[in-house]
Amino acid sequence: MQIKAPRGTYDILPNDSAKWQYIEKIMKDTAEIYGYREIRTPIFEHTELFERSVGESTDIVTKEMYTFVDKARRSLTLRPEGTASCVRAFIEHGVYSGLMPVKWYYNGPMFRYDRPQTGRYRQFHQFGVEVFGSSSPYADAEVIMLLAEIMTRLKLTDYELHINSVGCSLCRNAYQQKLIDYITPLRAALCRDCQLRYSKNPLRVLDCKTKSCQEAIEGFPTIYDSLCAECREHYSAVRDVLEHSNVSYIHDDNLVRGLDYYTNTAFEVHLPGIGAQSAVGGGGRYSGLVAECGGPDIPGVGFALGMERLLLAVETLTDVDLNRFQSGVDVFIAVMDDKYEPQAVRILHQLRQADIKAEKDYVGRSARAQMKYADKLGARVVVLLGEEEVLKGFFTLRNMQNGEQVQVKSQDLVHNINRILLVD
Ligand code: HAM
Repeated sequence: MQIKAPRGTYDILPNDSAKWQYIEKIMKDTAEIYGYREIRTPIFEHTELFERSVGESTDIVTKEMYTFVDKARRSLTLRPEGTASCVRAFIEHGVYSGLMPVKWYYNGPMFRYDRPQTGRYRQFHQFGVEVFGSSSPYADAEVIMLLAEIMTRLKLTDYELHINSVGCSLCRNAYQQKLIDYITPLRAALCRDCQLRYSKNPLRVLDCKTKSCQEAIEGFPTIYDSLCAECREHYSAVRDVLEHSNVSYIHDDNLVRGLDYYTNTAFEVHLPGIGAQSAVGGGGRYSGLVAECGGPDIPGVGFALGMERLLLAVETLTDVDLNRFQSGVDVFIAVMDDKYEPQAVRILHQLRQADIKAEKDYVGRSARAQMKYADKLGARVVVLLGEEEVLKGFFTLRNMQNGEQVQVKSQDLVHNINRILLVD
């Protein structure tokens, strides 16, 4: 039986890889302009890290983690997200004793045992950023502005930025009780999931997508009305910066996020045009997470973008021609007789040393078939190597665009090829 990639995973073949590289470069370059540096962390971590950070009652931890026991009987988990690993690394390497704030970005695969559909996979990729060491609302605003800038550079300007404040532990605890009191008499109308979770995690009911839940809680008390003075001031400062910077947003009372570590600012970016999985990114502030994971009391703020959803969006919502970024071949060495193969290999090497993308045939094609193959590869110049050339010590260059042929001496080869390549 043929073995296929596991459900919810997929291969990125070279034609698609080029599209990924285009998007990744925009993200990386933009993050670096904003002062972020790359961190790479392991794909798996101790299970406890995610239980403590993402939260034991979240969908991610209760249903979606790829957890396994290794040969030494440790419980390990394929990372479902990147923030927890950054926090762990920040503490483990004592990064907090250096200059603050610390600004990191990362890009890589994440794993969630979710129901696969368009825009939702079991192995997916996130580009994320985290800032440690600043409690300033300007840090929240900078993170959101970086996200907005990435969207703009990807030409995805029709995004909707939803923001809310989920308060600090004090005002949120009081609010949660208020919400439980409000929901309890309505609980029969909630979906099964919400009936089970509302008393433990009532905020999740607010962003439940089930129609019956949305209808049941209409007119619910908002967290905004329960924010303490400090949290309200923080939120208002973030909004002021966004307004002054012309970043448009929607204040969304229902936005609470599916991970437990958030405090104060929470946000999500949606592209309604890409279908049911319209959230292309999300993030927020997490003031207590570093301490919760055993480090000092240092706040953080960040976001992650879902690469698959962004790629889908660039392909379907913009006029960017992603096929344009395929890397091709510049020069093809066509060998007219097998006995000149060693010479062809030498020329190939010489051209590659000069940073010219050069290729030759390796499967014994005839002279005619080599020309066809060169054309298929998109070669712009073909170097013809036959008896006449070798005997007289020159090369014939064919410009594949206009069919013109010139004869050049061996020492002028690179120069002449570059001249043709530069003109086109
Ligand atoms: P998140 O909202 O769980 O946040 O994920 C961020 C983005 O990852 C989502 O908006 C979505 O685009 C993408 N994503 C999530 N699950 C899947 C999936 N199964 N398939 C495809 N794409 C998916 C976080 O992960 C937080 N760590 C973000 C953060 C960073 N908060 C602070 N710092």
